Amino acid sequence: MDYKNNILETIGNTPLVKINKLVEDIPALVLAKYETFNPGNSVKDRMAVKMLADAEEKGLIKPGGTIVEGTSGNTGMGLALAAIVKGYKMVCTLADKQSKEKIDILRAVGCEVIVCPTSVAPEHPDSYYSTAKRIAAERPNSWYVNQYDNLANSQAHYESTGPEIWNQTDGKVTHFVVGVGTGGTISGVGKYLKEQNPNVKIWGVDTYGSVFKKYHETGEFDENEIYPYITEGIGEDILPKNVNFDIIDGFTKVTDKDAAVYTRRLAEEEGMFLGNSAGAAMKGLLQLKDEFKEDDVVVILFHDHGSRYIGKMYNDEWMKANGFID
Ligand SMILES: Cc1ncc(COP(=O)(O)O)c(C=O)c1O
Repeated sequence: MDYKNNILETIGNTPLVKINKLVEDIPALVLAKYETFNPGNSVKDRMAVKMLADAEEKGLIKPGGTIVEGTSGNTGMGLALAAIVKGYKMVCTLADKQSKEKIDILRAVGCEVIVCPTSVAPEHPDSYYSTAKRIAAERPNSWYVNQYDNLANSQAHYESTGPEIWNQTDGKVTHFVVGVGTGGTISGVGKYLKEQNPNVKIWGVDTYGSVFKKYHETGEFDENEIYPYITEGIGEDILPKNVNFDIIDGFTKVTDKDAAVYTRRLAEEEGMFLGNSAGAAMKGLLQLKDEFKEDDVVVILFHDHGSRYIGKMYNDEWMKANGFID
């Protein structure tokens, strides 16, 4: 018989899928690392399980304890699956700009969800970062995950996502393009790929309202770069420890409108029903088109599934209300 012992064992080994119509103007082969095949429908399952295993090993959480995390939804989902299988309770704090689907999904897998205001600074006591920290401090036997600064996050991608991409492309990958939030994906995959071949170029996709691109180019943390934006999953108003700026060759910024429009184009033109950061990454890759030559193999990573965005980017009324379609 061929079976897995629990749902966590199905994480990883996701397919690489060629993108066809949307990249007609690009001479290179463009392959998508299609992370929605993970059981929580996102790449975050990988790091959630790794961070929990690391905390168990270090004795930071004991059997029956509570996992607390501030999350845009996907990390919470991965942690929730791990919590169910391993017998922990799970509390998630979220910013109120996150889609309703993400909140409902977390509740469906047994999380206690606390929705916090988006438009407050990270250090404000009501922010989703501060609320998670406070809850973890108040509740006995609880562990604050902190995916931003917990380096088991990027380590998960160094150990699994990076080697998978290298092996699936037979070592021919020349560029890796990916949206950046905590930085775990780009830093773990980027480090692994550059260790195999220092010539592989690592490109981050950022959003307007986030500090990453300017910080990478100038070394300045410019607060004027920070303002609310609609794109979900990427960009930050902090510098997470998981972003290893040294292995990143450059960033490109994508507007909220382009990210939303390209999320829909991936579904309509490639049959790829994906989340909002996939649209941002796709448009970011097209913005970088002059970087790619004929024999290049460009890998783009798609983080999560479209079902989490049916009330937003896949909803005509929402798109019109935001001025993203006529
Ligand atoms: C939908 C989505 N896209 C992109 C990202 C960014 O990935 P990372 O945190 O590994 O940089 C996240 C993570 O929060 C996400 O949930």
